[in-house]
Amino acid sequence: MREKINALLKEVEAFSAENLEELENFRIKFLGKKGEIPALFADFKSVPPEQRREMGQLINTLKQTVQNKIVALKEKLDTQTGDQETQLDLTLPASAPLGSRHPLSIVRNEIIDIFSRIGFTVSEGPEIEDDFHNFTALNFPEEHPARDMQDTFFIEKDPDLALRTHTSSVQVRVMEKSQPPIRTISPGRVFRNEAISARAHCIFHQVEGLYVDENVSFTDLKQTLFYFARELFGEHTKIRFRPSYFPFTEPSAEMDVSCNICGGKGCNICKYTGWVEILGCGMVDPNVLEACHIDNKKYTGFAFGMGIERITMLKYQVNDLRLFFENDLRFLEQFTAAR
Ligand code: PHE
Repeated sequence: MREKINALLKEVEAFSAENLEELENFRIKFLGKKGEIPALFADFKSVPPEQRREMGQLINTLKQTVQNKIVALKEKLDTQTGDQETQLDLTLPASAPLGSRHPLSIVRNEIIDIFSRIGFTVSEGPEIEDDFHNFTALNFPEEHPARDMQDTFFIEKDPDLALRTHTSSVQVRVMEKSQPPIRTISPGRVFRNEAISARAHCIFHQVEGLYVDENVSFTDLKQTLFYFARELFGEHTKIRFRPSYFPFTEPSAEMDVSCNICGGKGCNICKYTGWVEILGCGMVDPNVLEACHIDNKKYTGFAFGMGIERITMLKYQVNDLRLFFENDLRFLEQFTAAR
């Protein structure tokens, strides 16, 4: 019996388990009902009395060794598997999918960048506007049909509140608060009561610009917008101006850029003309300066306004404006690489 116990002791001491299953088998082999240790205790009955003390101690030592071994191995295995679960390799590249900016934000930021480089600041104003800032100060006479050019969502009659139809209202606010030189652009959301289609929406985004100082001329306007068009659409871009009408500018014009899709040869985006209209502009009407308490004998200015949707459609060849508002991931994900 002594030899058998010593052999088992050696076996226990040498044992090591790779996983919890091996450890459980080891436990069953020694401590299970039909295991080695219960068997030894059973055999103990036939040990001669003079050896009982020694054998008893030996069996207990074996049992204790087995139990210690199980506790030690279990602890080791637990910490190993725990490690695997919580161990982080901080050098791995992040695998979380990258978000992307909305295409309208990308283009808005780009427009802001281009104008900041030549000294324009950014100004913002309220989306709910009063009649004065959206119309009257901008030289829209009461009851004048020009107010119908921009189908307005009215909110209240007295005081006269509406959703702003353009961000020219922000420029009125800037002129009221400050004196020239003023160089500012106002990006923002605007609202018009129009039927939703591939080319129009009742909510869209604009960037409008204003420059007021001594001796500001139409030449300054042309050069500034020429710079802008080439920065945005590339250095080979050409521009042209067509006479137009806005109540707040005189003279007024619309500006076209050479079609950046076909390079001016003619395609369905430019309707085979080689040109696409991107903005309205003109010299600030002296009445507007006066309404904003700016000396219109001393100062002149130019203003312009453009729709961000339209420019984004051109830049990224998007053929339906509604895509900007649907937040379909299949559309948005295509802009992940852009800034
Ligand atoms: N406010 C005009 C619009 O919403 C755009 C514009 C701005 C035109 C400034 C001329 C000068 O259409």
